[in-house]
Amino acid sequence: MVVKVGVAGYGVIGQRLADGVALQGDMELVGVADLAPTLSIRAMKEKGMPYDLYLVEGADKTKFDELDIPVAGTFNDLLDKVDIMLDSSPGGVGAKNKELYEEKGVKAVFQGGEANSIADVFFHGYANYEKGLNQNYLKLTSCNTTGLIRAVDCLDRECGGIRKVVITIIRRVADPGDYHRGLTNALQMDKAPSHQAVDLMTIMPHVEATGILVHTPVTHGHIITVVASGKKKISKEMALKAFKGHDRIRVVRIDEGFKGNASFFRYARDLGNPRGDMYEIGLWEDSIVESGDDIVFAINIPQESVTIPETVDGIRAAMGMQAERLFAVAETNKYLGIGKWK
Ligand SMILES: NC(=O)c1ccc[n+]([C@@H]2O[C@H](COP(=O)([O-])OP(=O)(O)OC[C@H]3O[C@@H](n4cnc5c(N)ncnc54)[C@H](O)[C@@H]3O)[C@@H](O)[C@H]2O)c1
Repeated sequence: MVVKVGVAGYGVIGQRLADGVALQGDMELVGVADLAPTLSIRAMKEKGMPYDLYLVEGADKTKFDELDIPVAGTFNDLLDKVDIMLDSSPGGVGAKNKELYEEKGVKAVFQGGEANSIADVFFHGYANYEKGLNQNYLKLTSCNTTGLIRAVDCLDRECGGIRKVVITIIRRVADPGDYHRGLTNALQMDKAPSHQAVDLMTIMPHVEATGILVHTPVTHGHIITVVASGKKKISKEMALKAFKGHDRIRVVRIDEGFKGNASFFRYARDLGNPRGDMYEIGLWEDSIVESGDDIVFAINIPQESVTIPETVDGIRAAMGMQAERLFAVAETNKYLGIGKWK
């Protein structure tokens, strides 16, 4: 079965979703939809229009015509051709698009900027794949939560269960090129608990989670420190073995040169990955320490690309492509080339 997929909103996330779906051997990317001839759309035109472009309601087609950007049709035309939409429009817009999906009987996976109420299931490919099976509307966790849950779920399954986690998120405040966030040099506190800790509990209700988030004026990746309490003591060796066995976790060491968030970005560029993307979270081996019965570690979240694999898992769940979690994530990983570096 080849599942037909469309993407709404060809921005930071949407262009990466489109590329990710196009790589899947059992999916067809029918096209992408957007509102305006943004720089990402202009870059797509300059690359020779790898994907058909459809315009959402409110788009001014003359602006696309002036730039010779070919338009394949309207949003409705796209919806008529797909089984499922990946909605990566700006936060809150997906709720409006959902009315159209419902009218057309098209399934959808939404991103983290939408309210949880938009979806039947708040979804993570590794932690609750089965809950998404054959559902109509999934919402993916945010970038930080996606990476955090990968690591906590990994320990939870491999090291005898996790009872409690406390996190500190050092959050990049903007994506590269986000001029609307301003030119700043300050840190900003969020009220505790961070939504990522609360979201983790929604997906993993058996884990008590809380935490603090600090915004930082950087663009290349968040860092999260995690204090995790197991049902029984988790040693550094147990944690390291579990993390190393996970295909979407890249275990690195500071002495190798992975000094911080920027090292991952540079390494991804050196690999020739499009846009300097990395699908894996980074996990510093030298950050893993035992504190009493707790285990402490730090992870790097490449915010622009980390949700792509779990969103593709969402297609597999909603379309019932694989009934079992590990078969599904393995297919996604295979087509995205995840784990081939091991
Ligand atoms: N940027 C990140 O690091 C990141 C990480 C994880 C999740 N997310 C989530 O992904 C979603 C998209 O964020 P983004 O950063 O890619 O935004 P973005 O602003 O980069 O892209 C949004 C795109 O949607 C287009 N658009 C506007 N109105 C539209 C409509 N009615 N229908 C379809 N497209 C429309 C815009 O022109 C733009 O190209 C949000 O829910 C966000 O919270 C973002």
